[in-house]
Amino acid sequence: MNVGIDKLGFYTPAYYLDLVDLARARNEDPQKYLVGIGQAQQAVIPQSQDAVTMAANAASPILDATNRQQISLIIFGSESGVDNSKSGAIYLQNLLGLPRSARAFEIKQACYGATAGIQMAKEFVKNHPDQQALVVGTDVARYGLQTAGEVTQGSGAVAMTISANPRTLALSTNSSVYSDDIMDFWRPLNRKEALVDGHYSNDIYQQFFLKTVHAYCEQEQCSLTDLQALTFHLPYTKLGLKALRTLLPEVSAAQQTQWLSEFEASRVYNRQVGNLYTGSLYLSLLSLLDQTTGLSAGAKVGLFSYGSGAQGEFFVGTVQPGFRDTQRRSRIEAALAQRTRLDVDQYEEWFTQWPTFNTANVTIDPAPDGAEFVFTGVVDNKRQYQRRL
Ligand code: HMG
Repeated sequence: MNVGIDKLGFYTPAYYLDLVDLARARNEDPQKYLVGIGQAQQAVIPQSQDAVTMAANAASPILDATNRQQISLIIFGSESGVDNSKSGAIYLQNLLGLPRSARAFEIKQACYGATAGIQMAKEFVKNHPDQQALVVGTDVARYGLQTAGEVTQGSGAVAMTISANPRTLALSTNSSVYSDDIMDFWRPLNRKEALVDGHYSNDIYQQFFLKTVHAYCEQEQCSLTDLQALTFHLPYTKLGLKALRTLLPEVSAAQQTQWLSEFEASRVYNRQVGNLYTGSLYLSLLSLLDQTTGLSAGAKVGLFSYGSGAQGEFFVGTVQPGFRDTQRRSRIEAALAQRTRLDVDQYEEWFTQWPTFNTANVTIDPAPDGAEFVFTGVVDNKRQYQRRL
């Protein structure tokens, strides 16, 4: 029996910053951001969105009556949680009207949280094939104004249903995992922005990639030539390209061309929204599935997940016959195209305002942007959420 990703949904806020505008404001050559970093735009989150609402907005469009009956595990992967105790999964369960009998909790390990959730969900579904899991990766990547990391910010969520006989991607039984106690990126409890040793984090990411991909091939006695495409956690798209390039000398010229072409498909969406932390790898997978011209059912795709601190994992997915979903693709392309462009002053103002903590009674006027789920403020230190449609 195959187990894997049945459906994927994506949400990103309806506002963005154009990185040419940011480059001009920061006295940088725009080519550094567009080519050197590989990002064109960055999502900007309004006060009326947070990790919970983005997760709900990503999941809601993909859930049908069968999902609502069969989902008995809800895993909220995030490093942008809204409470130190209560998990985002409980808010999500309630907002989406999912069964009260479901097990719901939050997982944190930097950008790796959604992958941990998927692997747990996979084992769960193997043991309970008549049930499904909902796994979300939802985050706001923040480094601070006028920092080197600023160009790699972003926000959004990816939601996935994990089921038996999935229509999109069957997951390999095994994966290779590597972790070590490393201070490449972290966010102490008193901070709204991450601290990062940027160049060191790039080095560790690439080391973990090579370790896990080679360990996987050795352990599963497979060859790199079995893989038609590779997808990466993409904190910014150039880093995935750099990691991919380290493997190119190990394969034929034809395979290099194929991998590079699939990589372009896999970064179309990420270039426009920036880092989603937990959701980034799965947004890249979504981009590949929607934008590929070369893949068909049966193709094998390598997935490299990385979470600072640090945990890496490499595993493989087999593309299933139902992987193309033209409605999903149109919905995502329209959502990205219809976003409102903020100027740098507006972005800086919004950046400074976000997030709203639970320190007092606060009312937030939801931005008039059509988001289904919004955060409307805090009453008696309790966060308030609303469904608007
Ligand atoms: P920087 O020092 O400003 O940039 O920071 P740089 O000088 O290294 O330049 C970047 C690239 O642009 C270089 O290319 C330059 O050559 C090129 P590369 O050598 O890398 O191929 N460049 C140009 N290209 C074209 N035209 C030009 C030009 N000028 C320069 N005119 C850095 C870059 C990524 C370090 C910074 O943005 C940062 O600290 N970002 C945040 C950290 C990060 O994203 N790390 C990634 C690995 S860790 C990870 O993935 C986990 C994470 O997602 C968190 C989690 O797990 O929760 C972050």
